[in-house]
Amino acid sequence: MTTIGEALQDAARRLGAAKIESARLDARVLLAQAMNLRPEDVFGREERFVSADAVARFHSMISQRENRVPVSRILGRREFWSLEFELGPDTLDPRPDSETLVDAALQTHPNPEDAFRLLDLGTGTGCLLLAILSERPSATGLGVDAVEGCIEVARRNADRLAFADRAKFQLGDWGVGLEQQFDLIVSNPPYIADHEIAKLEPEVSRHDPRRALTGGTDGLDAYQALATDLPRLLAPGGIAILEIGYNQASDVTEILRRAGLSVSSIKTDLAGQDRCLITKPQKL
Ligand SMILES: C[S@@+](CC[C@H](N)C(=O)[O-])C[C@H]1O[C@@H](n2cnc3c(N)ncnc32)[C@H](O)[C@@H]1O
Repeated sequence: MTTIGEALQDAARRLGAAKIESARLDARVLLAQAMNLRPEDVFGREERFVSADAVARFHSMISQRENRVPVSRILGRREFWSLEFELGPDTLDPRPDSETLVDAALQTHPNPEDAFRLLDLGTGTGCLLLAILSERPSATGLGVDAVEGCIEVARRNADRLAFADRAKFQLGDWGVGLEQQFDLIVSNPPYIADHEIAKLEPEVSRHDPRRALTGGTDGLDAYQALATDLPRLLAPGGIAILEIGYNQASDVTEILRRAGLSVSSIKTDLAGQDRCLITKPQKL
């Protein structure tokens, strides 16, 4: 029979040997999942026995983590804006830094009763759209993604979080073919230059889908496409908020300027890095 203490010690040793800095925390979270407990319920119960089934599940999870599969992908879920999102093989694993964009979006519509129309281009799990709708109960939203697997996961997330009546999702190539206009458009497009992808942590380079990462040779392809679509898709007085890489503010500002859009502000994330920019049509 294996105890919680023994299982955690062995797993932390294996993950440490795989150079995973969060070895102890990851082991605790995964053991809790294997035992159908909350992570806090594993704490301080080192003497408790783990069933043979749970030990087998735990070993399989630790083997995945040794291969640098992120904990969120092993669990199949990720918390974002205090909401739980299902992940799939086609979706990006949402990043805490993208909450900067949600925060900026809410500041553009500070009145909780505002009934604005929201568009999320490259919606992935639907995390940006659904987080904003969770704070603005009169708003409605459309999420677009080029990958069917993302649309399916986003719809399931909207259902489970009870936003299905206000959030629709459809397959599409950025804004191509959309005929409606929107008061607020958000997008976290793929913005990593192709040659940079292999240099990222294995959790990202091997396990996030390439379609969610690659921004072409200079990382800016998606912004070129978005800049073409935004002026047509923004309703009068509308605003768009785009996530950017930490060093892309001036390049993206220039792309938007050439498309007739001006950048009114740039928001930084908790680390102080440029994270998203707010843009709207230039005044004539
Ligand atoms: C960086 S991920 C962002 C996902 C999600 N919004 C988030 O913040 O976690 C970029 C998303 O854009 C989608 N995408 C890539 N090319 C696209 C295109 N041409 N049209 C629409 N979506 C696209 C990808 O499938 C991916 O879901």
